[in-house]
Amino acid sequence: MEIVILPDPDAVARTAADIIQASLENGHAVLGLATGSTPLGTYAELIRRHRDEGLSFADAEAFTLDEYLGLPAEHPESYRSVIRREFTDSVDFPDGAIHSLDGEAPEPEAEAARYEAAISAAGGIDVQILGIGTDGHVGFNEPMSSLASRTRIKTLTEQTRRDNARFFPSPEDVPHHVLTQGLATIREARHLLLIGLGEAKAPAIAAAVEGPLAAGCPASALQLHPHTTVLVDEGAASRLEHRGYYQYTLQKKPTWQSF
Ligand code: GLP
Repeated sequence: MEIVILPDPDAVARTAADIIQASLENGHAVLGLATGSTPLGTYAELIRRHRDEGLSFADAEAFTLDEYLGLPAEHPESYRSVIRREFTDSVDFPDGAIHSLDGEAPEPEAEAARYEAAISAAGGIDVQILGIGTDGHVGFNEPMSSLASRTRIKTLTEQTRRDNARFFPSPEDVPHHVLTQGLATIREARHLLLIGLGEAKAPAIAAAVEGPLAAGCPASALQLHPHTTVLVDEGAASRLEHRGYYQYTLQKKPTWQSF
């Protein structure tokens, strides 16, 4: 893992956008997109680069990470709607290039299998953006998710439902069930970009990066990946024991070496 501590969320967004831009400029790119508030700054920066600097997504496609079960696709809080509203509708992805899970699929297990096949057919994901839940979840892989899990149904913890209640008219409206890419699915992406912002995420980031590899902190599964970049602001980095080493590593990073 490469741990990159940056002064503030804007610096995190710019660095994340640099990584996505490099992938786009490398030829056909398959992006993995997370929802939640954490990547919004990155998406805003990518939209700005598209508008002001001509950054193009015309040769890219994207897969969302997860979806609430039971929400119609057109529901404003379905992740299919959120990712379009917050990001993809404002840039130039080709028609049909944004792939999402169907939260209303009559057979969710068949939908999960279809999604796995679609990711494989696209050649796998080049860069997967990830946020982290306060309980250490990535996607919607709640604690005790199998480290070998594939896309499937999960039941949200009460903590996650409370955390996400701000997006719904009332806490009872947050669905109990979701479809999410599994931890093994996520780990097949070629580059993982985990973003943590703010002190509320500091314990989860510390457990993911420096804690034991354990199902109790699903994000710790990223320790098994050969190319994970963790971008954090000062708040999210505040519980990292080895932060001095990470800062030293960044200062000494060879100019030829990219993220
Ligand atoms: C949500 C999403 C995750 C997201 C996480 C953190 O429940 N399923 O993909 O990373 O929780 O959300 P936020 O970025 O709003 O803190």
